[in-house]
Amino acid sequence: MAVNLIVLAAGQGTRMNSDRPKVLHEIAGAPLVVHALKAGAALGPARTVVVTGTGAAEVEAAVAAWDPEVTCVRQEPQLGTGHAVLAAKAALAGAAGDAIVLYGDTPFVTAATLERMRAARARHAVVVLGFRPADPARYGRLVTEGETLLRIVEWKEADAATREIGLCNSGVVCADLGLMMDLLSAVGCDNAAGEYYLTDIVTVAAARGLSATVVTCPAEETLGINTRAELAAAEAAFQARARAAALEDGVTLVAPDTVQFAHDTVIGRDAVVEPHVVFGPGVTVETGARIRAFSHLDGAHVSRGALVGPFARLRPGAELAEDVHVGNFVEIKNAIVGEGVRINHLSYVGDAEIGARTNVGAGTVTCNYDGVFKHRTVIGQDVFIGSDTMLVAPVRVGDGAMTATGTVVTQDVPPGALAVGRARQEVKPGFAVRFMARLRALKARGARP
Ligand code: UD1
Ligand code: CA
Repeated sequence: MAVNLIVLAAGQGTRMNSDRPKVLHEIAGAPLVVHALKAGAALGPARTVVVTGTGAAEVEAAVAAWDPEVTCVRQEPQLGTGHAVLAAKAALAGAAGDAIVLYGDTPFVTAATLERMRAARARHAVVVLGFRPADPARYGRLVTEGETLLRIVEWKEADAATREIGLCNSGVVCADLGLMMDLLSAVGCDNAAGEYYLTDIVTVAAARGLSATVVTCPAEETLGINTRAELAAAEAAFQARARAAALEDGVTLVAPDTVQFAHDTVIGRDAVVEPHVVFGPGVTVETGARIRAFSHLDGAHVSRGALVGPFARLRPGAELAEDVHVGNFVEIKNAIVGEGVRINHLSYVGDAEIGARTNVGAGTVTCNYDGVFKHRTVIGQDVFIGSDTMLVAPVRVGDGAMTATGTVVTQDVPPGALAVGRARQEVKPGFAVRFMARLRALKARGARP
Protein backbone atom coordinates (compact mmCIF):
# COMPACT_ATOMS: atom_id res chain seq x y z
CA MET A 1 0.00 0.00 0.00
CA ALA A 2 1.21 3.48 -0.83
CA VAL A 3 2.46 5.78 1.88
CA ASN A 4 2.65 9.57 1.98
CA LEU A 5 4.71 11.74 4.28
CA ILE A 6 3.69 14.93 6.02
CA VAL A 7 6.59 16.69 7.73
CA LEU A 8 5.64 19.44 10.17
CA ALA A 9 8.14 22.26 10.09
CA ALA A 10 6.19 25.47 10.62
CA GLY A 11 6.92 26.03 14.30
CA GLN A 12 8.83 28.92 15.80
CA GLY A 13 11.69 27.28 17.63
CA THR A 14 11.98 30.26 19.98
CA ARG A 15 14.32 28.43 22.34
CA MET A 16 17.04 28.15 19.70
CA ASN A 17 17.49 31.91 20.10
CA SER A 18 18.27 32.17 16.41
CA ASP A 19 17.45 34.15 13.28
CA ARG A 20 17.47 30.88 11.39
CA PRO A 21 14.36 28.66 11.36
CA LYS A 22 14.86 25.81 13.82
CA VAL A 23 14.55 23.02 11.24
CA LEU A 24 17.46 24.50 9.24
CA HIS A 25 19.97 24.09 12.04
CA GLU A 26 22.29 21.30 11.01
CA ILE A 27 23.44 17.94 12.29
CA ALA A 28 26.32 16.29 10.43
CA GLY A 29 26.09 18.86 7.65
CA ALA A 30 22.38 18.47 6.88
CA PRO A 31 19.44 20.54 8.14
CA LEU A 32 17.22 18.85 10.74
CA VAL A 33 14.33 18.76 8.27
CA VAL A 34 16.51 16.87 5.76
CA HIS A 35 17.24 14.21 8.39
CA ALA A 36 13.49 13.75 8.88
CA LEU A 37 12.95 13.63 5.11
CA LYS A 38 15.73 11.05 4.70
CA ALA A 39 14.15 8.75 7.29
CA GLY A 40 10.80 9.02 5.51
CA ALA A 41 12.29 8.70 2.02
CA ALA A 42 13.52 5.21 2.91
CA LEU A 43 9.86 4.09 2.82
CA GLY A 44 9.57 5.14 -0.83
CA PRO A 45 6.65 7.52 -0.26
CA ALA A 46 4.28 8.30 -3.13
CA ARG A 47 4.15 11.95 -2.07
CA THR A 48 5.90 14.06 0.52
CA VAL A 49 4.63 17.38 1.83
CA VAL A 50 6.53 19.69 4.17
CA VAL A 51 4.43 22.18 6.14
CA THR A 52 6.31 25.46 6.53
CA GLY A 53 5.56 28.68 8.37
CA THR A 54 8.36 30.34 10.27
CA GLY A 55 11.06 31.27 7.75
CA ALA A 56 9.01 29.50 5.07
CA ALA A 57 11.04 30.71 2.08
CA GLU A 58 14.34 29.55 3.58
CA VAL A 59 12.91 26.19 4.62
CA GLU A 60 11.40 25.69 1.17
CA ALA A 61 14.76 26.43 -0.46
CA ALA A 62 16.52 23.87 1.75
CA VAL A 63 13.84 21.25 1.04
CA ALA A 64 14.05 21.88 -2.72
CA ALA A 65 17.84 21.61 -2.59
CA TRP A 66 17.47 18.20 -1.00
CA ASP A 67 14.67 16.95 -3.28
CA PRO A 68 12.83 19.15 -5.78
CA GLU A 69 10.00 16.57 -5.93
CA VAL A 70 8.91 17.39 -2.37
CA THR A 71 5.95 19.77 -2.10
CA CYS A 72 5.94 22.56 0.48
CA VAL A 73 2.75 24.16 1.79
CA ARG A 74 2.48 27.13 4.09
CA GLN A 75 0.56 27.10 7.35
CA GLU A 76 -0.36 30.64 8.37
CA PRO A 77 -1.16 31.27 11.15
CA GLN A 78 0.11 28.25 13.08
CA LEU A 79 -2.77 26.92 15.12
CA GLY A 80 -1.31 23.61 16.28
CA THR A 81 -0.12 20.25 15.01
CA GLY A 82 -3.60 19.16 13.86
CA HIS A 83 -4.06 22.40 11.95
CA ALA A 84 -0.62 21.89 10.40
CA VAL A 85 -1.53 18.44 9.06
CA LEU A 86 -4.76 19.83 7.59
CA ALA A 87 -2.67 22.45 5.79
CA ALA A 88 -1.22 19.57 3.72
CA LYS A 89 -4.65 18.25 2.71
CA ALA A 90 -5.05 20.11 -0.60
CA ALA A 91 -1.52 19.23 -1.69
CA LEU A 92 -2.32 15.55 -1.10
CA ALA A 93 -5.64 15.59 -3.01
CA GLY A 94 -5.96 12.38 -4.99
CA ALA A 95 -3.24 10.59 -3.05
CA ALA A 96 -4.13 7.15 -1.72
CA GLY A 97 -2.86 4.93 1.07
CA ASP A 98 -1.42 5.81 4.43
CA ALA A 99 -0.01 9.06 5.75
CA ILE A 100 2.85 9.28 8.22
CA VAL A 101 3.33 12.52 10.13
CA LEU A 102 6.92 13.38 11.06
CA TYR A 103 8.33 16.43 12.83
CA GLY A 104 10.99 18.52 11.13
CA ASP A 105 12.83 18.95 14.43
CA THR A 106 13.03 15.22 15.22
CA PRO A 107 15.91 13.95 13.10
CA PHE A 108 16.67 10.43 14.28
CA VAL A 109 13.54 8.37 13.66
CA THR A 110 14.62 5.29 11.71
CA ALA A 111 13.02 3.78 8.64
CA ALA A 112 12.80 0.45 10.51
CA THR A 113 10.63 2.05 13.19
CA LEU A 114 8.38 3.62 10.57
CA GLU A 115 8.05 0.21 8.91
CA ARG A 116 6.97 -1.32 12.23
CA MET A 117 4.31 1.40 12.49
CA ARG A 118 3.05 0.56 9.03
CA ALA A 119 2.90 -3.13 9.92
CA ALA A 120 0.81 -2.30 13.02
CA ARG A 121 -1.69 -0.57 10.75
CA ALA A 122 -2.92 -4.04 9.73
CA ARG A 123 -4.80 -4.24 13.03
CA HIS A 124 -5.44 -0.59 13.96
CA ALA A 125 -6.75 2.53 12.23
CA VAL A 126 -4.27 4.84 13.96
CA VAL A 127 -0.71 4.00 15.01
CA VAL A 128 1.25 6.37 17.27
CA LEU A 129 4.95 6.18 17.96
CA GLY A 130 5.64 6.16 21.70
CA PHE A 131 8.80 6.13 23.78
CA ARG A 132 9.87 6.09 27.41
CA PRO A 133 12.27 8.95 28.06
CA ALA A 134 14.43 9.09 31.19
CA ASP A 135 12.61 12.32 32.02
CA PRO A 136 9.09 12.43 30.54
CA ALA A 137 8.99 16.18 31.25
CA ARG A 138 6.28 17.93 29.24
CA TYR A 139 5.64 15.34 26.56
CA GLY A 140 2.10 14.25 25.83
CA ARG A 141 1.22 11.02 27.68
CA LEU A 142 -0.14 7.88 26.04
CA VAL A 143 -3.05 6.32 27.92
CA THR A 144 -3.28 2.63 26.97
CA GLU A 145 -5.25 -0.47 27.81
CA GLY A 146 -3.53 -3.60 26.59
CA GLU A 147 -2.39 -2.88 23.07
CA THR A 148 -5.07 -0.26 22.57
CA LEU A 149 -4.24 3.42 22.78
CA LEU A 150 -7.25 5.10 24.41
CA ARG A 151 -6.14 8.74 24.16
CA ILE A 152 -3.22 11.12 24.18
CA VAL A 153 -3.19 13.72 26.93
CA GLU A 154 -1.05 16.82 26.56
CA TRP A 155 1.05 17.61 29.61
CA LYS A 156 -0.84 20.89 30.08
CA GLU A 157 -4.11 18.97 30.25
CA ALA A 158 -2.87 16.03 32.29
CA ASP A 159 -3.84 15.39 35.90
CA ALA A 160 -1.27 14.15 38.43
CA ALA A 161 -2.04 10.47 37.77
CA THR A 162 -1.69 10.88 33.99
CA ARG A 163 1.60 12.72 34.44
CA GLU A 164 2.87 9.61 36.23
CA ILE A 165 2.64 7.68 32.93
CA GLY A 166 6.11 7.09 31.50
CA LEU A 167 4.96 6.28 27.95
CA CYS A 168 5.17 9.48 25.90
CA ASN A 169 4.01 10.71 22.51
CA SER A 170 6.76 11.23 19.95
CA GLY A 171 4.36 13.02 17.61
CA VAL A 172 4.85 10.49 14.79
CA VAL A 173 1.48 9.15 13.64
CA CYS A 174 0.39 6.77 10.92
CA ALA A 175 -3.16 6.35 9.58
CA ASP A 176 -4.98 6.12 6.29
CA LEU A 177 -4.52 9.54 4.67
CA GLY A 178 -8.22 10.15 3.96
CA LEU A 179 -9.22 8.98 7.43
CA MET A 180 -6.58 11.16 9.09
CA MET A 181 -7.89 14.28 7.34
CA ASP A 182 -11.44 13.26 8.12
CA LEU A 183 -10.71 12.73 11.82
CA LEU A 184 -8.88 16.06 11.95
CA SER A 185 -11.86 17.95 10.62
CA ALA A 186 -13.70 16.83 13.77
CA VAL A 187 -10.95 18.05 16.11
CA GLY A 188 -11.60 21.30 17.97
CA CYS A 189 -9.38 23.73 19.83
CA ASP A 190 -11.08 23.80 23.22
CA ASN A 191 -7.98 23.08 25.30
CA ALA A 192 -5.31 24.72 27.44
CA ALA A 193 -3.34 25.99 24.43
CA GLY A 194 -6.33 26.92 22.26
CA GLU A 195 -4.71 24.83 19.50
CA TYR A 196 -5.87 22.09 17.15
CA TYR A 197 -4.07 19.04 18.52
CA LEU A 198 -3.16 16.25 16.10
CA THR A 199 -3.17 13.99 19.14
CA ASP A 200 -6.94 14.37 19.46
CA ILE A 201 -7.54 12.15 16.42
CA VAL A 202 -7.13 9.17 18.74
CA THR A 203 -10.20 10.19 20.75
CA VAL A 204 -12.20 11.05 17.63
CA ALA A 205 -11.31 7.67 16.14
CA ALA A 206 -12.36 5.85 19.33
CA ALA A 207 -15.72 7.66 19.27
CA ARG A 208 -16.21 6.20 15.78
CA GLY A 209 -15.33 2.71 16.94
CA LEU A 210 -11.89 2.78 15.33
CA SER A 211 -8.92 1.54 17.31
CA ALA A 212 -5.50 3.04 17.86
CA THR A 213 -2.28 1.48 19.11
CA VAL A 214 1.26 2.38 20.12
CA VAL A 215 4.53 1.24 18.59
CA THR A 216 7.51 2.05 20.79
CA CYS A 217 11.10 2.86 19.94
CA PRO A 218 14.24 3.83 21.87
CA ALA A 219 14.19 7.40 23.20
CA GLU A 220 17.26 8.27 21.06
CA GLU A 221 15.09 8.06 17.95
CA THR A 222 12.45 10.49 19.10
CA LEU A 223 14.87 13.07 20.41
CA GLY A 224 13.49 16.48 19.45
CA ILE A 225 15.70 19.54 19.11
CA ASN A 226 14.52 22.64 20.93
CA THR A 227 17.72 24.31 22.16
CA ARG A 228 21.33 24.74 21.08
CA ALA A 229 22.35 22.39 23.89
CA GLU A 230 20.03 19.71 22.51
CA LEU A 231 21.43 20.35 19.02
CA ALA A 232 24.97 19.83 20.30
CA ALA A 233 23.93 16.68 22.16
CA ALA A 234 22.21 15.35 19.03
CA GLU A 235 25.33 16.05 16.96
CA ALA A 236 27.40 14.14 19.50
CA ALA A 237 24.95 11.24 19.41
CA PHE A 238 25.04 11.19 15.61
CA GLN A 239 28.83 11.23 15.55
CA ALA A 240 29.07 8.44 18.12
CA ARG A 241 26.80 6.26 15.98
CA ALA A 242 28.62 7.14 12.74
CA ARG A 243 32.01 6.26 14.27
CA ALA A 244 30.71 2.98 15.64
CA ALA A 245 29.19 2.14 12.25
CA ALA A 246 32.46 2.94 10.42
CA LEU A 247 34.46 0.71 12.79
CA GLU A 248 31.87 -2.03 12.35
CA ASP A 249 32.20 -1.69 8.56
CA GLY A 250 35.94 -2.34 8.74
CA VAL A 251 37.29 1.20 8.65
CA THR A 252 40.29 1.93 10.87
CA LEU A 253 39.78 5.09 12.91
CA VAL A 254 42.99 5.74 14.79
CA ALA A 255 41.31 8.16 17.21
CA PRO A 256 37.56 7.78 16.58
CA ASP A 257 36.44 10.60 18.87
CA THR A 258 38.34 13.16 16.80
CA VAL A 259 36.82 12.27 13.43
CA GLN A 260 33.77 14.21 12.28
CA PHE A 261 31.40 12.55 9.79
CA ALA A 262 28.68 14.03 7.60
CA HIS A 263 25.20 12.54 7.31
CA ASP A 264 26.13 10.82 4.04
CA THR A 265 29.83 9.92 4.37
CA VAL A 266 30.71 6.60 2.71
CA ILE A 267 34.02 4.93 3.58
CA GLY A 268 35.19 1.59 2.24
CA ARG A 269 36.57 -1.37 4.14
CA ASP A 270 40.22 -1.19 5.19
CA ALA A 271 40.40 2.54 4.66
CA VAL A 272 42.35 4.30 7.40
CA VAL A 273 41.27 7.63 8.83
CA GLU A 274 43.85 9.31 11.04
CA PRO A 275 43.02 11.74 13.86
CA HIS A 276 41.18 15.04 13.39
CA VAL A 277 39.75 14.45 9.95
CA VAL A 278 36.55 16.32 9.05
CA PHE A 279 34.13 15.01 6.43
CA GLY A 280 31.70 17.51 4.94
CA PRO A 281 28.72 16.29 2.92
CA GLY A 282 29.10 14.19 -0.22
CA VAL A 283 32.36 12.34 0.44
CA THR A 284 33.16 8.80 -0.71
CA VAL A 285 36.42 7.12 0.26
CA GLU A 286 37.15 3.78 -1.36
CA THR A 287 38.69 0.75 0.22
CA GLY A 288 42.34 0.90 1.25
CA ALA A 289 42.64 4.68 0.98
CA ARG A 290 44.31 6.54 3.80
CA ILE A 291 43.19 9.96 5.01
CA ARG A 292 45.95 11.41 7.09
CA ALA A 293 45.56 13.69 10.10
CA PHE A 294 43.88 17.11 9.99
CA SER A 295 42.48 16.79 6.50
CA HIS A 296 39.16 18.34 5.49
CA LEU A 297 37.09 16.68 2.75
CA ASP A 298 33.90 18.00 1.23
CA GLY A 299 32.08 16.70 -1.87
CA ALA A 300 35.10 14.63 -2.86
CA HIS A 301 35.72 11.10 -4.12
CA VAL A 302 38.90 9.30 -3.08
CA SER A 303 39.65 6.03 -4.91
CA ARG A 304 41.38 2.86 -3.76
CA GLY A 305 44.86 3.17 -2.39
CA ALA A 306 44.95 6.96 -2.48
CA LEU A 307 46.81 8.88 0.21
CA VAL A 308 45.42 12.23 1.33
CA GLY A 309 47.02 14.63 3.80
CA PRO A 310 48.11 15.38 6.43
CA PHE A 311 46.55 18.85 6.27
CA ALA A 312 44.94 18.40 2.85
CA ARG A 313 41.74 20.02 1.72
CA LEU A 314 39.50 18.35 -0.85
CA ARG A 315 36.61 20.52 -1.98
CA PRO A 316 33.50 19.71 -4.03
CA GLY A 317 34.27 18.01 -7.33
CA ALA A 318 37.67 16.67 -6.28
CA GLU A 319 37.92 13.26 -7.99
CA LEU A 320 41.03 11.34 -7.04
CA ALA A 321 41.74 8.17 -9.05
CA GLU A 322 43.52 5.13 -7.63
CA ASP A 323 46.84 5.55 -5.85
CA VAL A 324 46.88 9.35 -6.06
CA HIS A 325 48.96 11.09 -3.41
CA VAL A 326 47.82 14.48 -2.18
CA GLY A 327 50.12 15.83 0.50
CA ASN A 328 50.24 18.58 3.07
CA PHE A 329 48.74 22.01 2.43
CA VAL A 330 47.29 20.99 -0.89
CA GLU A 331 43.82 22.16 -1.92
CA ILE A 332 41.89 20.45 -4.71
CA LYS A 333 38.57 21.68 -6.09
CA ASN A 334 36.52 20.54 -9.08
CA ALA A 335 39.40 18.59 -10.52
CA ILE A 336 39.85 15.12 -11.98
CA VAL A 337 43.17 13.74 -10.82
CA GLY A 338 44.37 10.68 -12.74
CA GLU A 339 45.76 7.42 -11.43
CA GLY A 340 49.06 7.62 -9.57
CA VAL A 341 49.35 11.42 -9.73
CA ARG A 342 51.53 13.07 -7.05
CA ILE A 343 50.64 16.50 -5.67
CA ASN A 344 52.59 16.36 -2.48
CA HIS A 345 53.18 19.87 -1.20
CA LEU A 346 51.64 23.33 -0.93
CA SER A 347 49.58 23.47 -4.10
CA TYR A 348 46.21 24.65 -5.38
CA VAL A 349 44.53 22.63 -8.13
CA GLY A 350 41.11 23.94 -9.15
CA ASP A 351 38.96 23.49 -12.27
CA ALA A 352 41.52 21.11 -13.68
CA GLU A 353 42.21 17.71 -15.17
CA ILE A 354 45.49 15.91 -14.57
CA GLY A 355 46.47 12.78 -16.48
CA ALA A 356 47.86 9.59 -14.96
CA ARG A 357 51.32 9.49 -13.34
CA THR A 358 51.88 13.24 -13.60
CA ASN A 359 53.98 14.83 -10.87
CA VAL A 360 52.98 18.26 -9.64
CA GLY A 361 55.84 20.05 -7.87
CA ALA A 362 55.63 21.97 -4.62
CA GLY A 363 53.91 25.33 -4.70
CA THR A 364 52.08 24.84 -7.99
CA VAL A 365 48.96 26.91 -8.58
CA THR A 366 46.27 26.62 -11.22
CA CYS A 367 45.34 30.30 -11.62
CA ASN A 368 41.72 29.53 -12.49
CA TYR A 369 39.98 32.79 -11.65
CA ASP A 370 40.31 36.04 -13.57
CA GLY A 371 38.11 37.95 -11.18
CA VAL A 372 34.95 37.21 -13.15
CA PHE A 373 35.19 33.81 -14.86
CA LYS A 374 36.68 30.46 -13.87
CA HIS A 375 38.91 28.72 -16.44
CA ARG A 376 40.18 25.18 -16.84
CA THR A 377 43.68 23.78 -16.73
CA VAL A 378 44.24 20.51 -18.57
CA ILE A 379 47.46 18.62 -17.88
CA GLY A 380 48.24 15.39 -19.72
CA GLN A 381 49.77 12.10 -18.61
CA ASP A 382 53.35 11.63 -17.43
CA VAL A 383 53.88 15.37 -17.15
CA PHE A 384 56.45 16.89 -14.81
CA ILE A 385 55.24 20.21 -13.39
CA GLY A 386 58.23 21.95 -11.80
CA SER A 387 57.93 23.49 -8.36
CA ASP A 388 56.34 26.93 -8.21
CA THR A 389 54.67 26.68 -11.60
CA MET A 390 51.81 29.11 -12.13
CA LEU A 391 49.37 27.71 -14.69
CA VAL A 392 47.34 30.66 -15.96
CA ALA A 393 44.09 29.12 -17.16
CA PRO A 394 42.72 28.41 -19.67
CA VAL A 395 45.84 26.47 -20.52
CA ARG A 396 46.89 22.95 -21.59
CA VAL A 397 50.06 21.00 -20.96
CA GLY A 398 50.47 18.02 -23.30
CA ASP A 399 51.43 14.42 -22.42
CA GLY A 400 55.03 13.93 -21.36
CA ALA A 401 55.78 17.67 -21.20
CA MET A 402 57.70 19.55 -18.47
CA THR A 403 57.55 22.98 -16.93
CA ALA A 404 60.67 24.47 -15.41
CA THR A 405 60.64 25.52 -11.78
CA GLY A 406 59.18 28.97 -11.30
CA THR A 407 57.52 29.07 -14.70
CA VAL A 408 54.42 31.12 -15.37
CA VAL A 409 52.61 29.12 -18.04
CA THR A 410 50.41 31.38 -20.15
CA GLN A 411 50.49 29.44 -23.44
CA ASP A 412 49.69 25.80 -24.18
CA VAL A 413 52.67 23.46 -23.90
CA PRO A 414 52.82 20.78 -26.64
CA PRO A 415 53.37 17.12 -25.74
CA GLY A 416 56.97 16.32 -24.87
CA ALA A 417 58.03 20.01 -24.72
CA LEU A 418 59.67 21.98 -21.92
CA ALA A 419 58.14 25.33 -20.97
CA VAL A 420 60.45 27.81 -19.26
CA GLY A 421 59.05 31.19 -18.38
CA ARG A 422 61.21 33.00 -15.84
CA ALA A 423 63.94 35.69 -15.75
CA ARG A 424 67.42 34.38 -16.57
CA GLN A 425 69.74 34.28 -13.54
CA GLU A 426 72.76 36.62 -13.31
CA VAL A 427 75.69 35.94 -10.95
CA LYS A 428 77.87 38.81 -9.61
CA PRO A 429 81.02 37.43 -7.97
CA GLY A 430 81.91 39.01 -4.59
CA PHE A 431 78.94 41.33 -4.62
CA ALA A 432 77.35 40.06 -1.39
CA VAL A 433 80.50 40.57 0.67
CA ARG A 434 81.07 44.12 -0.65
CA PHE A 435 77.42 45.09 -0.17
CA MET A 436 77.22 43.89 3.44
CA ALA A 437 80.49 45.60 4.32
CA ARG A 438 79.15 48.90 3.00
CA LEU A 439 75.89 48.61 5.01
CA ARG A 440 77.75 47.75 8.23
CA ALA A 441 80.09 50.73 7.78
CA LEU A 442 77.10 53.03 7.33
CA LYS A 443 75.54 51.72 10.56
CA ALA A 444 78.85 52.19 12.48
CA ARG A 445 78.85 55.89 11.45
CA GLY A 446 75.37 56.28 13.00
CA ALA A 447 73.33 56.28 9.78
CA ARG A 448 69.67 55.32 10.08
CA PRO A 449 67.55 53.61 7.48
C1 UD1 B 1 3.79 17.74 20.43
C2 UD1 B 1 2.65 16.79 20.83
C3 UD1 B 1 3.05 16.08 22.13
C4 UD1 B 1 4.34 15.34 21.94
C5 UD1 B 1 5.43 16.28 21.47
C6 UD1 B 1 6.66 15.51 21.07
C7 UD1 B 1 0.60 17.76 20.03
C8 UD1 B 1 -0.62 18.51 20.39
N1 UD1 B 1 1.46 17.55 21.00
O1 UD1 B 1 3.85 18.74 21.44
O2 UD1 B 1 2.02 15.17 22.48
O3 UD1 B 1 4.74 14.73 23.16
O4 UD1 B 1 5.00 17.01 20.30
O5 UD1 B 1 7.70 16.36 20.76
O6 UD1 B 1 0.74 17.37 18.89
N2 UD1 B 1 4.09 22.57 14.22
C9 UD1 B 1 3.62 23.13 13.05
N3 UD1 B 1 2.55 23.95 13.12
C10 UD1 B 1 1.92 24.25 14.29
C11 UD1 B 1 2.43 23.67 15.47
C12 UD1 B 1 3.51 22.84 15.41
O7 UD1 B 1 4.16 22.90 11.97
O8 UD1 B 1 0.94 25.01 14.24
C13 UD1 B 1 5.25 21.69 14.14
C14 UD1 B 1 6.49 22.22 14.84
O9 UD1 B 1 7.31 22.94 13.94
C15 UD1 B 1 7.17 20.94 15.32
C16 UD1 B 1 6.01 19.98 15.55
O10 UD1 B 1 4.93 20.49 14.81
O11 UD1 B 1 8.01 20.40 14.33
C17 UD1 B 1 5.64 19.85 17.02
O12 UD1 B 1 5.19 21.07 17.51
P1 UD1 B 1 5.43 21.55 19.00
O13 UD1 B 1 4.80 22.86 19.20
O14 UD1 B 1 6.86 21.42 19.34
O15 UD1 B 1 4.59 20.45 19.78
P2 UD1 B 1 4.71 20.11 21.31
O16 UD1 B 1 3.97 21.12 22.09
O17 UD1 B 1 6.12 19.83 21.67
CA1 CA C 1 8.30 20.27 20.75
